[in-house]
Amino acid sequence: MSTTTSTIFFLLLIFISSISSGSSSSSVPIIGLDTFLSQQSRVDPQATNDSFLSLSSSLKSSLSRSLSSSHSDKIRSLLSLSLPLSLHVCLVGDSFPSSSSSSSLLSSFLSASLSSDNFHVITPFDTLLHRLAVRHSLHLDVSNSPSLASLLSKTLKSEIDRTPSSLRSPLLSVPYSAVDQIIRQDFEKEKPVHGVYLYFLNLGQQSKPYAYTYGHGDSSPAFSRCHGSVWTGKERYIWVDLGAGPVDYGPAISGDGVLPRGEFHPLAALHGRPKSQKALLADLASLVWSAYQVLLVPSLRIPVPFEKSLIVHFIHVFGTENGDPSGLDWKAIERTFMDEVNDNGLLLADQSLRFKTYRVSYAGCPICSFAISRSTNSYTSRFLFDNYTMIVNEYLDSKRLHRILSDSAEEFRRVASIPEEEDGRVLPVYVFDLDVHSILLLDRYHQSVAFKDMVIAVRTKNAQTVSDYSCNGRHVFTQTRDLERPLVGSILQSMWGVSPTHLLWSPRHNTTLVDYTWSIGQTPFGPFSESSSLSFVQKDAARRNVLLTSLNYSISSAIDVLESVAAHGGERKLLKHNQHTEFIQRWNLLKYKLDKAVSALSRLDFEMALYYLRSSDHDLYGIHSLVYNASQELEASLVCFKDPPFPWASVSMSVGIFFVLFYLHAKRDKLFRNKRKQF
Ligand SMILES: *[C@@H]1O[C@H](CO)[C@@H](O)[C@H](O)[C@H]1NC(C)=O
Ligand SMILES: *[C@@H]1O[C@H](CO)[C@@H](O)[C@H](O)[C@H]1NC(C)=O
Ligand SMILES: *[C@@H]1O[C@H](CO)[C@@H](O)[C@H](O)[C@H]1NC(C)=O
Ligand SMILES: *[C@@H]1O[C@H](CO)[C@@H](O)[C@H](O)[C@H]1NC(C)=O
Ligand SMILES: *[C@@H]1O[C@H](CO)[C@@H](O)[C@H](O)[C@H]1NC(C)=O
Repeated sequence: MSTTTSTIFFLLLIFISSISSGSSSSSVPIIGLDTFLSQQSRVDPQATNDSFLSLSSSLKSSLSRSLSSSHSDKIRSLLSLSLPLSLHVCLVGDSFPSSSSSSSLLSSFLSASLSSDNFHVITPFDTLLHRLAVRHSLHLDVSNSPSLASLLSKTLKSEIDRTPSSLRSPLLSVPYSAVDQIIRQDFEKEKPVHGVYLYFLNLGQQSKPYAYTYGHGDSSPAFSRCHGSVWTGKERYIWVDLGAGPVDYGPAISGDGVLPRGEFHPLAALHGRPKSQKALLADLASLVWSAYQVLLVPSLRIPVPFEKSLIVHFIHVFGTENGDPSGLDWKAIERTFMDEVNDNGLLLADQSLRFKTYRVSYAGCPICSFAISRSTNSYTSRFLFDNYTMIVNEYLDSKRLHRILSDSAEEFRRVASIPEEEDGRVLPVYVFDLDVHSILLLDRYHQSVAFKDMVIAVRTKNAQTVSDYSCNGRHVFTQTRDLERPLVGSILQSMWGVSPTHLLWSPRHNTTLVDYTWSIGQTPFGPFSESSSLSFVQKDAARRNVLLTSLNYSISSAIDVLESVAAHGGERKLLKHNQHTEFIQRWNLLKYKLDKAVSALSRLDFEMALYYLRSSDHDLYGIHSLVYNASQELEASLVCFKDPPFPWASVSMSVGIFFVLFYLHAKRDKLFRNKRKQF
C-alpha cells in the first residue's frame, strides 16, 4: 500500500470515530497546595523527601474533603490524562487567506482527523501493547505575517538570481540557510514561546523553479545531494516552502513512503493546476496533521526508563591496526551528543552521559569471527546482462548477530578488557570494521541497526553502494564507510527511544507506517539527509520519552493498587477510618501531582514534569503500603475469628503486593530509576 500523508489523512477522515477528549480535571482547587509544592520543588528539587509528611494539617484536611470518587471514576481519571500541545501556524505570503478564515477551516479539517489520541510505542518490550495510557491533543492557532513575507521574497529572489543553473537538475539549488536565518530571527522575536511554530511560506512565482540544499557543494554522478522544501530548527520551529520544488525523495523502486512528483502530495500543494483556497487549506491541514504526528508527538521507538548515568561503550572490532579512521570518528559522534547536552538538550537535570572507546583486534578475537561467520547469509538475484547472470550478495543477519553478541557479552568484555560498570545504563555499540573488499551490510540494507540493548554496525573496505532510494530522480548512493551518521541515529533510538523521522506507529493499521516527508533537512535519520545534528524534534523526544515512560508506569501502578483495593471489597471495607482518610489524602495528592506533571509536559517544561513525577512516587508508595498493611490485618482477622474458605485471591494479591513493597522498600532511595524493572 502506498501510504503518502494525504492518503493517511483521508483514510483517517473516513475512518475516525471521534474520541471524546475527556480531560476531567480534579474537582475543587485546593488553596495553598500549589504554593506549597512549588516551594518544595525549590527546597528539594530531586524530591528525595516525601512532601506528604510536611503538609500542614489544614492542607491535609482540604485534601481529604475533596470529593472521594468511586473506583471506576478513579481509574477513568487516570486513563484520561491528556497532554495539550500547542502548534502555532504562521502563514507567510500574500496569497494565503486571512488568519481568521483559515484558522476556522484548518481547525475544522483537523478536528475531523484527530481530536485526541494516545502516545504510542513502536516496539514495546514484552507485550503487543503499543499504546501508552497518556493522551495528547493538538491546540492550533493561526496567524499571518506580511512583514516576514516581503523580507523573505526579496532574499529568495536575490538567491535565485545569483545561483547558476545546473545541468544535472531542473531545480535551482538555493541554500536553506538564506531563508532559515530570517525565519530564525522572527522566531527569536516571538520568545518566550510555549509550543512549536510552523511557518508555511508562499512567496509567489519565481523566475525559475528552485529547491533547497542542505550541504555544501553540488551533486555529482556518484553523490546525490537531495533537494527539499522543509527545515526543522534546533529550536522549536519548522518551515515549509510551498513554492519550492516539487521535490521527490523516497524508495526508488517500490515501497511505502515515496513522495511522488506532481500535485498529489500536500508538499506540492501550489504546483500543478490552480486550486481553490479550500483545497489549499485541506492540503495545509494534511501537512499540519503530519507534522504534529511525526514531529510533535512522535511514537516512542522503545520505552525508556529513567537512569541517572548513561554510558556508551564503543567497541571497535578492527581488521587492520591502523586502518583508515575516516568515517569512524568517535570524537565526532561524541561531540554531536555532548553539544546538545551542554546546551541543555537531550538530558534531564541530574542525568549524565559518558562515552568510552575500546578496541579489539578481529584476528585476536575468536568470538568476533564466530559471530560474523554464523550470521553471514547470502542473497541471490538474477540480472540480465548478455545472458541471465546470478549475482550473490552476502549480508549479515542482524538478529542472529544480536543473539550471539548478547550471549557472549562476558567473553567480549574479557577480550576487549571492558571493566564492569557499577551503575547506570550501558549501551554497547559494536562496530565491525572488517578487512574484506566485498559489500557487507546488515539485513542487506543497513550500515547500523539499533536494538533495545545494543547497537551493531559494520563496514568493509568497500566504499559505496547504490541504495534502494532515489531523490531528484536519481538513485541515492550509500557511502558505506561513513558510519558516524548511522551511529548517531542508532544511539538515539537505543538510548533515548527516539524514533526515526520516517517511522510512526499507527494503531488503526496495527503496524508501523513509513513516510519520508520530514526525513530531509536537519534529521540524523534516513538516507536523504546528510546532517547528523539534532533538531528540536529529537532533543524533545529524548526527554519526553523518559517522562512518558515513567508517567505510564505510575498510572499502571496506581491502577494495580486500585484493583487490589477492589479485590478486597472496596476501600471502605478494607481501610479503617484513619487509614481511609490517609488513603483519600494520598490519592488526591497523587492525582494532583500527576496533573501537574502532565501540564508541565504540555508546556514542554521537562524538569518540572520530572519533579512532580518523582514527588508523586512517594504518594504511590504510601498508597501501596497502606493497602498492603490493611490487607494483612484483614486477612489476619479472617483467619482468627471466622472459618472462611482460604482466601486464595486476596492472599496471592497480598503476596504480590508484598513483593512489590519489599522491592520498593529495599530500593527506596533509588525508587525512581528502578522503574525499569517494569520491562
Ligand atoms: C529531607 O528530610 C531530612 C530529614 O527530615 C532532612 O534532614 C533533609 O535535609 C531533607 N532533604 C531535603 C533535600 O530537603
Ligand atoms: C554469460 O555472460 C558472461 C559475460 O557477459 C560470460 O562470462 C558467461 O560465460 C556467460 N554465461 C553463459 C552461461 O553463457
Ligand atoms: C496486531 O498485529 C499482531 C501481529 O502482527 C496481532 O497479534 C494482533 O492481534 C493485532 N492486533 C489487533 C488489534 O489487530
Ligand atoms: C502503559 O500503561 C498501560 C496501562 O496501565 C499498560 O497496560 C501498558 O503496558 C504500559 N506500557 C508500558 C510500555 O509501560
Ligand atoms: C505498615 O506497617 C508497617 C509495620 O507495621 C509500618 O512500619 C508502616 O508504617 C505501615 N505503613 C503505613 C502506611 O501505615
